[in-house]
Amino acid sequence: MTAETPSITYRLTVQRTHDGRRESTYSVSLANPNARLLDALIEIRQTQDPELGFRFSCRVGMCGSCAMVVNGRERLACQTPVAELGTTISVAPLRSLPVKRDLMPDMAPFFDAMKRAHAALDPKEPGLQAIRTMPPEDPHRAAIERQNGCITCGACFSACEWTRTHPGYVGPAALNRLFMLALDERDARGTKRLDLAASAEGVLRCHTTGNCSVVCPVDVPVKAGMHRLKSLLAQVD
Ligand code: FES
Repeated sequence: MTAETPSITYRLTVQRTHDGRRESTYSVSLANPNARLLDALIEIRQTQDPELGFRFSCRVGMCGSCAMVVNGRERLACQTPVAELGTTISVAPLRSLPVKRDLMPDMAPFFDAMKRAHAALDPKEPGLQAIRTMPPEDPHRAAIERQNGCITCGACFSACEWTRTHPGYVGPAALNRLFMLALDERDARGTKRLDLAASAEGVLRCHTTGNCSVVCPVDVPVKAGMHRLKSLLAQVD
């Protein structure tokens, strides 16, 4: 017979928009020492407040939909062990984005920035049925591999001081992708993409504070990508 794990009680203060409330505070007891913040939110919604708004889908850190600001820092709720947060926890939606409801941001400005940056592959061979892959030994792949893996959760957009103060700035995720595409030999636009990177909405706004890299839940070195993009611009000049 195994001894029962004692429950720990957490006090969560959650920023709200629904029903005119500004915040709600909940107490939730969890016995699982590996419980994630998302487990606490689900428990609250199931047992205390069915109207609490938040998003999740994959629960394994892939879809990015559960990104939120926890104790002042952007995190994925499904990947954050609640025990690491202390017993008093503040939870708020991502910054620099309108809020649809409670912890659910409107991601449209984030994806609009991606569109403005044309941050999608424009294949050189549009007739191909499948996108040509780059084998690991391909030197072009080696040049961009480290910047790969963004899950478009919006954490870097939220943590960036420039997106907060300059609404036109396309932000770190879009610029990181722009950098990868500029060096992607499968892409038809290539270095023509750098026009936007050099514009008033682009990377020259970035003061490389580095919050983007600090909060990236999949450890993309976004700040390094900004540096490399600036170097690329200098070479093209
Ligand atoms: Fe998909 Fe958290 S639910 S990343």
